[in-house]
Amino acid sequence: MCGIVGYIGHRKAYPIVLKGLQRLEYRGYDSAGIAIFDGSDIKLSKTKGKVADLQDRLEKEIPTEGNLAFGHTRWATHGVPNDVNSHPHYSNSQNLAIIHNGIIENYGTLRQELIKRGYTFTSETDTEVLVNLIEEIKIKEGVKLGKAVQIALNEVVGAYAITVFDKERPHELVVARLGSPLAIGVGEEEFFIASDASPFIEYTKNAIYLEDGEMAIVSREKGVRIRKIKNDKQVAANVQELKMNLEQIEKGGYEHFMLKEIYEQPNAISDTFRGRMRPKSGIIKMAGIDDNFEKFKNAKRIIIIACGTSWHAGLVAEYIIEELVRTPVEVEYASEFRYRNPIIYPDDVVIAISQSGETADTMAAIKLAKKSGAFVFGVCNVVGSSISRETHAGAYTHAGPEIGVASTKAFTTQITVLVIMSLKLAKEKGTITHTEYHNYLQELDLIPEKVKEALTCNDHVKTVAAKYKEASNFLYLGRGYNFPVALEGALKLKEISYIHAEGYPAAEMKHGPIALIDEQMPVVVIATRKGHYEKVVSNIQEIKSRKGKIIGIVTKGDKAVKELADYVIEVPETSELLTPLLTTIPLQLLSYHIAVMLDKNVDQPRNLAKSVTVE
Ligand code: G6P
Repeated sequence: MCGIVGYIGHRKAYPIVLKGLQRLEYRGYDSAGIAIFDGSDIKLSKTKGKVADLQDRLEKEIPTEGNLAFGHTRWATHGVPNDVNSHPHYSNSQNLAIIHNGIIENYGTLRQELIKRGYTFTSETDTEVLVNLIEEIKIKEGVKLGKAVQIALNEVVGAYAITVFDKERPHELVVARLGSPLAIGVGEEEFFIASDASPFIEYTKNAIYLEDGEMAIVSREKGVRIRKIKNDKQVAANVQELKMNLEQIEKGGYEHFMLKEIYEQPNAISDTFRGRMRPKSGIIKMAGIDDNFEKFKNAKRIIIIACGTSWHAGLVAEYIIEELVRTPVEVEYASEFRYRNPIIYPDDVVIAISQSGETADTMAAIKLAKKSGAFVFGVCNVVGSSISRETHAGAYTHAGPEIGVASTKAFTTQITVLVIMSLKLAKEKGTITHTEYHNYLQELDLIPEKVKEALTCNDHVKTVAAKYKEASNFLYLGRGYNFPVALEGALKLKEISYIHAEGYPAAEMKHGPIALIDEQMPVVVIATRKGHYEKVVSNIQEIKSRKGKIIGIVTKGDKAVKELADYVIEVPETSELLTPLLTTIPLQLLSYHIAVMLDKNVDQPRNLAKSVTVE
C-alpha cells in the first residue's frame, strides 16, 4: 500500500502535493518523492524516510515552481526502502515519470525483455519496469501517452494505481487503476489525483472514483476522459459529491483504523497470495524457500521466535508445520529465548515472525540464533525493516501498513504466509499427497471470500458485545489449530478494552479455570465442526452446568452448540487447518465493539506501542 497524489491546474502544485502526501502517510511512510514539471523538464526529488524528510531535501534540491506535480509516499514491496527505489521513477529518456501503488507480478520477465532492447534500470522496482515499457511502446508504436499506457497495462499482470506524465504532453496526466484505489478531484479548470479524497477535500467536493480496469486522461484542456483498459470502451465520468470529512476519508469511512484493518483482511490475504500461488496449476513460488530449500529439508527442528500477536501466529504455524511438513517445531517468546541460553544446532531453521520487523527482543533472539550457526528466516510485514535485513532470507506478508496498535490483518497474513510455506515444503518433501496439496491450495484460494462472509457477522457480534461489555473477566477456549486463536482473542480484548481475559486449551479447563466459572463469566468457545468437535461440545456442557455464559464460534449450520450456547457466531466451513483465518474474525470484532462501547481509545490503547524497539 502506498499513497499517490497529483495536481494539474492553475495553482502552484508543490504545496498541494506535499500536504496531500502528509495526509496519505497512513498508507505508507518508508520513503517519499515528488516530481514537478517546470515548463520544460520534469524535476524530481525523492528520499528514504517520511514526507517531512522529503520536504527538507526537495526544497534544497529542485525549484518548487510549476502548476503540475505528483508525488508518492511509499510502502515498499519490490526493493528495500532507499532513495533510488523511491518514486517517482523516470523512464530512460527522462521524458516520462510515473508513480505507482501496487505490485506488477510479471515485472521480472518484462525487465529482462527491456534489458535485451537496451533499457537500463537504476532501481530494483517493478515500477521502473512499467514506465520504461510505456516509453518503449510509445516510441515503437508512435502513439500518444494515453494509448501507450493502455497497451502496456494490457501486458502487465498485477495490481496498480498509477499516474504517468509525459513532458511532451504538458497539459495532461494519465491515470489508471486495477486493485488499488484512485480518485480524481474535479475543480474549476484544475484536477487532483489521489489514493483517497483527503488530499483535495478543501479544494473540491467533486470526485470521480475510477473503477477497477479503468484509465483516464486528465487534461486541463479536455477534462477527464475515462476508458476501459481492456477494450478501449469509453466510460461516462460519474462525478460524486463528497460528504465526508478529512478524518473519515483517511480511515476509509471507518470509525477507527482497527476496524478498517479488520475489514481489509480479504484484500490483505489476497495480496499475500499475489504472485506466489497459482491454485489452478498447483504452483507455489517463494524465492526465500526456493533458494534455501535444502536448509528446510535437512532441518531436524524448526524454532519459531516472536512476541505478542506474532507469537500467536507462530503457535498456529507449529500445528500447521508439524501436520504438513512433519518437522518438529518449537515456539518461543523471543524475550525468553534470548536470555535462557537455548540449545541451537547449526542445522536448526529459525523462523522469526514480526509485523514491524523492529521488535527489540525478536531482533536479539535472531542475532543469538545466527551466532549458533542456524539459518534464520524472517516473516515480516514492513519491507526493509531491521529484522528483514538481519535474517538470511524471508517472506513478506504484504498486509500493508497496520496503524491500529492491536494487530489484526498482520496476524491473518502471517498465518497465510506460513500456510503457503508449509504447503510448499510439504509438497517438495513429499509429506502430503498430491491430492491433499491441491485440495489445500483450492481451499486457501477461497479464503478471502470466506473472510468476507465471516465479516457479515458484525451486527450480530455488536449485540453480543452489548450484552457482555460490563463483564470483568472473559475466558476464551479452543483446541488444536484454534487454541492459539483463543489466546489471540483474549489478547485483543485485554489490549483495547482493559477487561481481564484468559485463553486456554479447552481440555485444560478442568485443571484450573473451571473454578472461575459462574453466572458472571462469559466464555468464548471456538467449536468448529472438524476440530475435536464432540470433545469441545462436552467442555461447553461443563461450562453450562456451572452457569457460565457461552458464546460459541461455530461452523455455519451448526446445531449442537446452538442448543447449549447463549449466542453463536457462525463462520464458513473450510479445512480445519485453515479455520484460524476465519474464527479470528469474530473475536477481533468482539473486542473492537466492546472497547468502543466502553469508550476506550481503540487505535492507541493505554501503555501499549505498535512497535516495541526497547526491552
Ligand atoms: C507490540 C504490539 C503487538 C505486537 C507485538 C510484536 O506489543 O502492540 O501488536 O504483536 O509488539 O510486534 P511485531 O512487530 O514484532 O509483530
